[in-house]
Amino acid sequence: MDIFEEINVKGFVDEPIDPTLDLFDEIEKLKKEKNAVILAHYYQEPDIQDIADYIGDSLGLSQEAAKTGAEVIVFAGVHFMAETAKILSPSKKVLLPDLKAGCSLSDSCPAHLFAKFKEKYPDHLVITYVNCSAELKALSDIVCTSANAVQIVNSLPPDQKIIFGPDKNLGAYVSKKTGRDMVLWNGACMVHEIFSVQRILKLKERHPEAKFIAHPECEDVILSMADYIGSTTGLLKYSMNTDAKEFIVATESGIIHQMEKANPDKVFIPAPPNNACACNDCPHMKRNTLEKLYLCLKNGLPEVDVPMHVIEKARLPIERMLEISARLGL
Ligand code: 13P
Ligand code: SF4
Repeated sequence: MDIFEEINVKGFVDEPIDPTLDLFDEIEKLKKEKNAVILAHYYQEPDIQDIADYIGDSLGLSQEAAKTGAEVIVFAGVHFMAETAKILSPSKKVLLPDLKAGCSLSDSCPAHLFAKFKEKYPDHLVITYVNCSAELKALSDIVCTSANAVQIVNSLPPDQKIIFGPDKNLGAYVSKKTGRDMVLWNGACMVHEIFSVQRILKLKERHPEAKFIAHPECEDVILSMADYIGSTTGLLKYSMNTDAKEFIVATESGIIHQMEKANPDKVFIPAPPNNACACNDCPHMKRNTLEKLYLCLKNGLPEVDVPMHVIEKARLPIERMLEISARLGL
């Protein structure tokens, strides 16, 4: 069943917007009026990042969603992120500017198939990357993000058997870093799987001083070329704390907006994909626009809801992740 049929979708409003309106001002007014907070992922378009109250990676966004005092959370990200916010703050209204902002990685692991897969390994603990549906989280023991996956695996007893899903690339990276042999689900992200080794090598030749930095959702062959591997927040911090003046960035191109803002004297080059296109945009993340964000705040729609029986099961594995992260100062 399609994810959008499974969830309780409360409407969608598409209406013309007065072109003379200053949407930045209007959004600021609506935020105050409705006691709303805007949480945005680094992969959102620059205008959305600039109007957000908080911009972060998946871990930072979950931490923020768990502690916000606002009544309404506008989640400028993708569906699984808004669901995670709803699971952590079930009494709040969670809005997603475009309800069709999904995720190829999450879609690569339908919960009913994963449930059968899990049955084959009854003595294994299930760690799922946060990029998955609420139903999949409900089948998990601990959730992780790219910022804490290594530490979460390391926090478990060395003889604990582990299933890791849905991202096989992050899973392989974590296996390598921790020395743990995990059973991996065969899922991947469409954006991080298309980088071209040949084109990156050529780019490195033209920019010999550039640091090559990559997100752990990339394939091993790409990660093995990297000077630094990290979550989007990790990549941003590395760009700020390193003396290098040029960076080739192997992740979704939205993060470059924050990198350029934080380092106006440095150059950031998106790593080239293995097609004719020069950009690495996530088509799901980029479904959200400033116009849709304005309309969703104005109309209180579309809203993301998660059935209470799913929330009850999915909450504990996310809270375990937040507890371990807080303990480790992540
Ligand atoms: P992080 O936010 O953990 O860096 O993950 C990137 C991503 O692909 C989110 O969809
Ligand atoms: Fe999903 Fe990849 Fe887009 Fe992130 S970048 S939302 S993992 S498809």
